[in-house]
Amino acid sequence: MTAIAYLNGTWQSPEDARVSVLDRGFMFGDGIYEVIPVYSGRPFALARHLVRLNNSFNEIRLASPLSDAEWSSLMLEGVARSGESTASIYVQITRGVAPKRDFKYPEVPVPTVLMIVAPSPLLERTRIDPLDVVTLEDFRWARGHIKTTSLIAAGMLRNEAIARGADDAILIKNGKVTEATASNVLIARNGVLATPPKSNHVLHGITRDVVVALAREHGLAIEEREIDVAELETADEIMITSSTHEVWPVGSLNGKPVGNGAAGVMWRQLDGLFQDFKRGDQAASA
Ligand code: PDD
Repeated sequence: MTAIAYLNGTWQSPEDARVSVLDRGFMFGDGIYEVIPVYSGRPFALARHLVRLNNSFNEIRLASPLSDAEWSSLMLEGVARSGESTASIYVQITRGVAPKRDFKYPEVPVPTVLMIVAPSPLLERTRIDPLDVVTLEDFRWARGHIKTTSLIAAGMLRNEAIARGADDAILIKNGKVTEATASNVLIARNGVLATPPKSNHVLHGITRDVVVALAREHGLAIEEREIDVAELETADEIMITSSTHEVWPVGSLNGKPVGNGAAGVMWRQLDGLFQDFKRGDQAASA
């Protein structure tokens, strides 16, 4: 099957879905979103995604048009209609159409609700090629924990990385690692894992949360702390985590191999734990 979209109550193909030019999502990037992986036809870690979605609503002072139960059933309906069992749910809510372009929020917004359920090939895990990344200065704003659709800074950074021949960028703020353009970062040095702490400079990734909890549960050493560029550059392994990549190895940093350039032993362990949990989580919620 192909992708299916829900827009303000109507199910249609994403190509046919239309919003007004006066939508504040279009005018201002005035919106928030979530990306939720689907395994065996079930949204993964849905409760955590709904908590983060509600935090994003609070941060931008927009009331959620749906309750958690309504979001869940809408997503399940989308997955069922898509016919996909491994997929990705994209949910976007904007502050809706306003009569004119005005920075002031409308008194009574009517949010635009979009959901797209689409196949997500990376989640099939058929091929895992380590990524080539470069470091770039993190010039994004200081509200990185809000999952907003205003993503031009991330787009500029990703495309600068691509222009330099890489796949992605690991971002550096005041000499410390924050995250990659659409994922969190983990390093391994001397058998110890580390990932930057949650702050307003990084998205509080659900995959990161799950991986940190799994590592602790299984006795792996993992620290949530600031990581200097020098530590990143001398790491034995670097990995990224996200809802589209799960745990994914990095093969090179600024043109130099990380370790021997192949996926490392710590990645293998974490990925193994994640894959087992993924299957177990589905069984538990089945
Ligand atoms: N990106 N950091 C940033 C800036 C992100 O955009 C994302 C996710 C993450 C990882 O979060 P999670 O594990 O909850 O997916 C970290 C999504 C996948 C995207 O924008 O497509």
